[in-house]
Amino acid sequence: MQVSPSLLSADFAHLSDDIDMINSSEADMLHLDVMDGVFVPNISFGFPIIKMVSHLCDKPLDAHLMIVEPHKWIPQIRDLGVRIMNVHQEACRHLHRTIYQIREAGMEAGVTINPATPVLMLQDIITDLDLVLIMSVNPGFGGQPFIEHSIEKVRELRALIDRTGSKAKIQVDGGVNAETGRRLAEAGADCLVAGSYIFNSNDPHKAISTLKNL
Ligand code: DX5
Ligand code: ZN
Repeated sequence: MQVSPSLLSADFAHLSDDIDMINSSEADMLHLDVMDGVFVPNISFGFPIIKMVSHLCDKPLDAHLMIVEPHKWIPQIRDLGVRIMNVHQEACRHLHRTIYQIREAGMEAGVTINPATPVLMLQDIITDLDLVLIMSVNPGFGGQPFIEHSIEKVRELRALIDRTGSKAKIQVDGGVNAETGRRLAEAGADCLVAGSYIFNSNDPHKAISTLKNL
């Protein structure tokens, strides 16, 4: 299982300590939640923070953009050193074009779907994707309870990927812990995003390792 700790739950007064922890952990990448207060009812952090994180972090950066019109920022996000640019299906008017622009910029293309968006919305672009992120909470906040129906969506997406021969990895974000993570692994998830489970733990290295071994 791949693990992408979500920086949203880190201690922003001691961010470099938390990034050191990620660097010395078994985490595969670092998940950055960018929120604009329009697409989601919250605002998180933007380019200056990502630039600093990019300098300090040895792991690939996985940017989850909860913003309207994400295509406008593709060059800036690439220049910050982001490996995976992940846009919401609900935020893109011309999703196919945006995916190709992300790939042409040299990044991996990910598409995220909200809890109310069916997996079949991705069937015409699934072979163009490097990653699909299934939101297992409504985006905007850490620490929310896991939405059960997400397990079924992972199964459906696994079937779509296997049927089409897509190379897309399945990532899941929201309410992930050892118990929900185990069930997501059984359903076919490839990568788990976790914020509060890791950063609120007394032993974040162990929390990462627990998810890693699911
Ligand atoms: C929510 C974010 C998540 C968030 C997950 O909008 O996309 O990445 O940090 O937090 P937990 O793991 O606490 O649910
Ligand atoms: Zn996220």
